[in-house]
This record gives sequence, structure tokens and C-alpha cells, in this order.
Amino acid sequence: MGELDPSIIVIFGASGDLAHIKIFPALYALWSEGFFPDSFFIIGFARTGMDDETFRKTILDALNVNCRKKPVNENDFLNFSKHIFYLKSKYDDKASYEKLGKFVEAKALEYKIPKNIVYYLSIPPSIYVNVIDGIKNANLTADNFKKGGFSKLVVEKPFGYDYDSAKSLNSEILSVFKEKEVYRIDHYLGKETVQNIFAFRFANAIFEPIWNNKYIDHIQISALESIGVGSRSGYFDESGVIRDMMQNHMMQLLSAVAIEPPAIFDADDIRNEKAKLLKSIRPYSLNDVKNFVIRGQYDRGEVCNKPVVSYKEEAGMPKDTITDTYVALKLFIDNYRWAGVPFYLRSGKRLKKHKTEIVVYFKKLPYSLYGRDGVEKIKQNSIIITIQPNEGIVINFGAKMPGFEMDIEPVSMVFNYKSSFKLSPPDAYERLIYDIIIGDQTLFARYDSTLIAWQFITSIINGWRKIDTPAFPNYEANSWGPKKADRLINADGRVWNNN
Ligand code: NDP
Ligand code: BG6
Repeated sequence: MGELDPSIIVIFGASGDLAHIKIFPALYALWSEGFFPDSFFIIGFARTGMDDETFRKTILDALNVNCRKKPVNENDFLNFSKHIFYLKSKYDDKASYEKLGKFVEAKALEYKIPKNIVYYLSIPPSIYVNVIDGIKNANLTADNFKKGGFSKLVVEKPFGYDYDSAKSLNSEILSVFKEKEVYRIDHYLGKETVQNIFAFRFANAIFEPIWNNKYIDHIQISALESIGVGSRSGYFDESGVIRDMMQNHMMQLLSAVAIEPPAIFDADDIRNEKAKLLKSIRPYSLNDVKNFVIRGQYDRGEVCNKPVVSYKEEAGMPKDTITDTYVALKLFIDNYRWAGVPFYLRSGKRLKKHKTEIVVYFKKLPYSLYGRDGVEKIKQNSIIITIQPNEGIVINFGAKMPGFEMDIEPVSMVFNYKSSFKLSPPDAYERLIYDIIIGDQTLFARYDSTLIAWQFITSIINGWRKIDTPAFPNYEANSWGPKKADRLINADGRVWNNN
């Protein structure tokens, strides 16, 4: 990893949440580790009235809360902040884009750099199209830069609202940018632990041979959050967990654990395999949506001995909302490797535990040497890949307990990032922004798999419109979710890993 090319980063919605919580902390961390050359600058583009100094102060305050490198040294920040500018602008105003064009022109001349521009859409999806049109109409893309340089577009999730809207957003984007210039962010792909799933599977000889339906009984993927929706009611109530987590992060985790080895470890081959995998998910009939997909919404409860409100009572929430804050589902992947292996996915808010993990359960012993009850008593082998917190991998197996009897007890072999590497991993956004600038799309969603994932999720959303909504709320805050989600897996003789 070396110094990045000189570049200009334009952040639309720079006054907002994501810019302060994730983007600037990542940019600062990259800068303080020496990845940015002197010739780079960041332009904040938003409606809020601020001058450069006021904007820089909001960034400093945010870094002191959100940056891995906190507390931020004032002198270091002073040097960093010389690269930050702010343009008070409007997203649907031609003059704002012309002003941006002139500003970029002048700065590129001053810094003697080519117009390498990254446009980052850190705005609500409803105004993406305004910005894309603004960039197009003011001729701010690479095709118009006669002296070379690049222009790239970074799009945050959610990418669309359903299959049709994702498709039309995609066409809109591709009418201005080429696919190789588009970076659809799914920050789960920037997590070290998610990238390590590929290393675990493809850099070791011992796991891949047993990674199939001959040896694996079932796989559970859980992204459980103890937090509620906080101040994001406007956004969340239109999305629900089905769009907020299942369509993107959960599909990426599923892909990572289940894709075929790519021919070469590069963006195209990995993304080809992901598209193939997602295409192999067995489509749901309406009956499948009824039987295999469980939705929930949280009720009041107690978290850390303090009462918390129900979802319907969150600030700004419509009282009759039927949005899902929990989804569990069972799916099958119809291909040679996974035929017959159920995948159970669940994600929700206000749950008893905050953890994201993939658990691979191996088949039970065909026969036990250790007594008639042995097959039932000896636990299935399993591998737990913990994405967060306590990042690591645990292999569970049976071992003989010391003593004169042949008693088999479950034991674990543990790999833990912190103790093995003694390094704090970069935040997902640091890795993703670095990759955007060097032009590596491996960790970004490609249009085809985004649409394939939407096809599956849209079949659930459409199915829900045709069947009765459960009586919400249907699970208490600080619980494991709706009881029906337990029944979904218990009916197959299996249980969720709630440890
Ligand atoms: P914000 O609601 O904070 O919006 C960002 C900025 O956009 C605001 O500061 C505001 O700037 C402008 N804005 C907001 N609403 C409107 C509107 N209706 N019309 C015009 N401008 C508006 O969003 P976030 O920063 O939270 O999210 C930005 C993007 O990132 C979204 O696509 C979101 O889905 C995604 N995202 C956010 C995450 C988060 O944790 N926040 C996590 C993952 C993805 P101004 O008024 O100054 O122009
Ligand atoms: C975001 C979702 O994409 O991911 C949030 O919009 C969710 O609702 C968050 O809380 C989870 O991310 P992480 O990195 O905390 O697991």
C-alpha cells in the first residue's frame, strides 16, 4: 500500500451524519497514516450555510468522537484541514454545479494535479438523481476532462427501494458514469472479518474440501443489534430491516460464505461468482414467504436496567407503522455445492445481544463408537466466524475429558484478531475509500448482483403485501426476537446460536 494519486473528493451532503461519523474520520485516518499526498483536497457540498472555518470545526468535533485516531492533535488537524473546503450549494441548482466546476478547475491548477475526482453521494437517496444530473449538465465527468484524470461516483446504500427503483437508478447512473467508475458501498465488505472469510476458505487447504452439502448440515447468519432506530426514524420506517440489512449486508455475508472459488482473486471474478451464487437462491413462492420469512417489530422493554420505548413510540414514527425491525428467513441455494443445505438468516434491532456472526454446523456423526447414546450426546462440530464484536473464529469439536471414562465434551479452538495480530484494524470506510481512489472495485457491489439481490428481496416485500401483517409489536426489546423465528428453525430440529 503506497501513497495515493493526487485527488479531489467532493462530498455531497457534507453537513450530514455519515460524513461526520464515517467519511471524514476515515479520510483523516488515511491522511495521518501518510496515504494522501500533499496534492489532494476535499470539497464539502451542501445547503447548510457555513464557511470553510465553521465546516472544519464541525469536522474536528466529529473526529474527536468518531475517529480511531482520537484525541486528534490540533497541529495535525490544522495541516489536514488546509485540504478541506466548503461550498454552500443546492442539489438541484445549475449554478451550484458550475461553481463547483470552476472551484475544481482553480484548485487543480493551484495544486498542479489532473482532475482526479471522486464524487461521494452522502445524501438521502431521493436526491441522488438531482446530483447525477447536476454533474452531467455541468460537464463534470472524466469524458469532459481533455487532459486525462478520472471521475468516480460513490453511492451509499440503500441502492434503490426495490427491484424496479434499483434498476432505474442504475440506468440513471450508467447514463453518466461507466460501471468501472461506480462504487456501490456496502460497508460490510470493508470489514476485515468479512474479507477474512475469503482467506479462511481459500488460503487454507483444510476447510474448503468439507465446505459443501456432503459435510455441512446448515449455516446460520445473524446480524443482531441491541440498539433501536435512534434518530433515523424517517429513513428506517421506509426501509425496515428487509431493505436496510437483508438486501445488502446479509446478502454479502451469504455470498462470502457460499461462493465458489473465483478463477483469479480480482474484482471481476469475485463479483462474477457472487452474481452466480445469488442467482442460485431458490425463488420464493407466496407460500414460501408465509412459511420461511418471519418479521417482527420491537415493543417496549428494558435495556441496561433502563426502560426503552417501542418502535411505534420512537420520535417521529407514525403510530400505525407496520415496518419490520426484525426478519428471520430460511433459504436454499440450488447448486451442486449447497443443494439441500438450509441457510437461516436473521437480523434485527433491540435484541438481547449485539453480534454479527456466521455459524457453520457440520453433519452429525453417522455412528458413535462411544455408546448407544453417543450420536445424540456428542455435539455437532461447528465453526463460528464472528464478524463483530470479539472478532475471530472458533472451531468447536469434541474431546475426551480426562479420567477413566470415555466422556466426550465440547471444546473450542479459538483464533482472536486482537491477541493474534496485536493491531487495531482500519475502519471499513478507510479501506473502502483507499480502494476507491486506487480503483479497486473488489469490495464494492456490482450492478448485476445488486439487482439479483433485489429480485429476491422484492419477492418478499411483494409477498408481504398479499398476506396479513402480524400483530405488531411482537417481540419485547432486549429479547431474541419473535417466537415464530424460533419455531422457523426449531421445526427443522435445529436451534439458533444464542450464545
Ligand atoms: P443525512 O440525513 O444526515 O443527510 C445528509 C445531508 O443531506 C444533510 O446534512 C443535508 O444537508 C442533506 N439532506 C438531508 N435531507 C435532505 C433532503 N430531504 N433534501 C435535500 N437535502 C437533504 O443522511 P446521512 O448522512 O445519515 O446518510 C447519507 C447517505 O448515507 C444516505 O444514503 C444513507 O442511506 C447512507 N448511510 C448512512 C448511514 C449512517 O449511519 N448515517 C449508514 C449507511 C448508509 P444540507 O441540508 O446541508 O444540504
Ligand atoms: C447500516 C444500517 O448500514 O448498518 C444500520 O443502515 C445498521 O441500520 C448498520 O445499524 C450496522 O452496521 P455495523 O457496522 O454497526 O454492523
